[in-house]
Amino acid sequence: MSIAIYPGSFDPITSGHLDIVKRSCQLFDTVIVSVLNNSAKTPLFTVTERIDLIKKATADLSNCKVMHFDGLLVDFAEKQGATAVIKGLRTISDFEYEYQMAQLNKNLNANIETLFMVTNANYSYISSSVVKEIASLGGDFSDLVPSEIYEDVRQKIEKGR
Ligand code: PNS
Repeated sequence: MSIAIYPGSFDPITSGHLDIVKRSCQLFDTVIVSVLNNSAKTPLFTVTERIDLIKKATADLSNCKVMHFDGLLVDFAEKQGATAVIKGLRTISDFEYEYQMAQLNKNLNANIETLFMVTNANYSYISSSVVKEIASLGGDFSDLVPSEIYEDVRQKIEKGR
């Protein structure tokens, strides 16, 4: 049974993230979308809210699970019986950062492979940060997030104004 972890902040999940989840679900028996609080970032959504949004967006993917994790990614991956960590790559700068992460994670646990998946060109300019910025400035972000969560994101931004 092949299990992969797709980790991230997902604040909130974007159309680009969802595309990676869908494609990963075709390659692995189980994909665990794994949500963590990145201490370098101040999130808009709580972890519970982010998990709920991901569950909504992935409801039709029967082999997709959504979980929260703390601590080291490789420890969580091993505990879940995963052999791979999936990272989406949009740009060269993503690669430079992710290459370092992959090497560090390999050093921490040689059994966990990092697999890079190239983001679909349609989504290469999307990030959770730009979704939040466009939404808070009243722009149209309907193509940038899964349709199932659009209203939740809009309302959250509206409340925060
Ligand atoms: O969506 P993000 O914020 O870019 O995701 C970053 C994430 C969660 C993948 C990264 O911060 C991470 O793996 N954190 C877990 C802590 C850890 O294992 N750190 C050592 C990796 S070198």
